[in-house]
Amino acid sequence: MFLSAIVVASLAASTFADSLAEVEHIVLFMQENRAFDHYFGTMAGVRGFKDPNVQINCDGRSVFFQQVNSLLSNDTDFLLPWYISAAGGEFINGTQCMDAGSNGWGENHAALAFGSNATCYFNLQDLWLQAEANTPQSWGHFRRSDLPVHFAIAEGWTVGDMYQQGVIALQSTNPNRVIWQSGSIAIPGGNVNTTQGPVLDNNETPGCSSLTQRLENGTELSSPQVYSCFPYNWQTLPEFLQDAGITWKEFQAVDNFDDNPLPYFDFWRNLADDNATSELAQQGLGMNGGGNGKEKEVVDAIVNSPKYNKTILIISFDETGGWGD
Ligand SMILES: *[C@@H]1O[C@H](CO)[C@@H](O)[C@H](O)[C@H]1NC(C)=O
Ligand SMILES: *[C@@H]1O[C@H](CO)[C@@H](O)[C@H](O)[C@H]1NC(C)=O
Ligand SMILES: *[C@@H]1O[C@H](CO)[C@@H](O)[C@H](O)[C@H]1NC(C)=O
Ligand SMILES: *[C@@H]1O[C@H](CO)[C@@H](O)[C@H](O)[C@H]1NC(C)=O
Ligand SMILES: *[C@@H]1O[C@H](CO)[C@@H](O)[C@H](O)[C@H]1NC(C)=O
Ligand SMILES: *[C@@H]1O[C@H](CO)[C@@H](O)[C@H](O)[C@H]1NC(C)=O
Ligand SMILES: *[C@@H]1O[C@H](CO)[C@@H](O)[C@H](O)[C@H]1NC(C)=O
Repeated sequence: MFLSAIVVASLAASTFADSLAEVEHIVLFMQENRAFDHYFGTMAGVRGFKDPNVQINCDGRSVFFQQVNSLLSNDTDFLLPWYISAAGGEFINGTQCMDAGSNGWGENHAALAFGSNATCYFNLQDLWLQAEANTPQSWGHFRRSDLPVHFAIAEGWTVGDMYQQGVIALQSTNPNRVIWQSGSIAIPGGNVNTTQGPVLDNNETPGCSSLTQRLENGTELSSPQVYSCFPYNWQTLPEFLQDAGITWKEFQAVDNFDDNPLPYFDFWRNLADDNATSELAQQGLGMNGGGNGKEKEVVDAIVNSPKYNKTILIISFDETGGWGD
């Protein structure tokens, strides 16, 4: 239920390159909110809807048969992955304009921890209070005809059907993007030393998040443990590359949708755009380059480049966005 879709398009295919030593460029391109099966579950040869090795639940059915209770329907007790067709007309009535399932902490952990064997161990009613929001929308999927470019790229190179979302957090966008560009969300005992707390939500206001509860008499209690103490202070990928003498460039669209993780970090926030002394700034954080969010443009640019046979492009998605896998 929680795998995120990650396509690894290894452009330095074996017909061209004999070893990693021939790779001169690595391009990382991250998109938003898709799970593997939601896009590629119908693709031949992948661990999608025909995967014969999936979990068999204690009700004797595979995990593809997600349980449905009377809160959702009295007509069936299961829901299989279903095709999100173009039916329903435009805009608000269109099937393809429906919401995804919930991407929240409770719902996603319910799906992860309980989803496989829920009814063996938990009261169905309680479970659905948590996981209900993940169904039935979460089980919607597309097909090749809806995603011809994605399929062509995935089939033309290498598709990674066993990659997983880095972290299921309170809000998962920023935590997974911080992992992508720094290798850490700073969990206690993890691979960075910081007082900034683990990144567990999309907080982008200076200061920390905490869990709060409002009592009946109006008093608001906060958890002693704080997290997501924005901005962050550990080292990011471009700084590691810089230290290693490897050049890099950061591209983003004019509207980065708040999803470029580098400005979540002290180092980048404190770096003036016009700081001529700063080699890093000169390399163009926030520059408006070709990465305008269109996967095809990125792939075409590389394939048509003389550097094609020396380049690895890794296309990933930050998290499931509430879609199932
Ligand atoms: C890459 O392509 C160029 C020209 O297209 C060629 O000269 C070079 O030998 C190729 N390199 C590898 C590793 O195949
Ligand atoms: C689910 O329940 C079945 C039957 O009790 C058991 O054999 C299986 O190991 C359980 N799987 C998980 C993931 O808990
Ligand atoms: C299913 O039936 C029960 C009992 O009649 C009812 O309370 C519930 O609302 C029904 N569920 C749906 C989705 O209509
Ligand atoms: C949605 O469907 C309703 C009912 O058929 C219709 O009245 C309405 O105009 C439709 N809205 C749009 C935006 O298509
Ligand atoms: C963090 O600091 C502690 C105490 O100084 C040290 O033992 C540990 O190795 C450090 N960990 C990392 C990942 O730097
Ligand atoms: C509200 O209730 C909590 C818990 O009983 C108590 O500690 C607090 O003093 C109360 N606040 C007010 C304003 O009565
Ligand atoms: C420019 O960047 C360097 C670090 O590369 C920093 O030491 C210096 O303080 C910055 N100057 C300004 C005016 O921000």
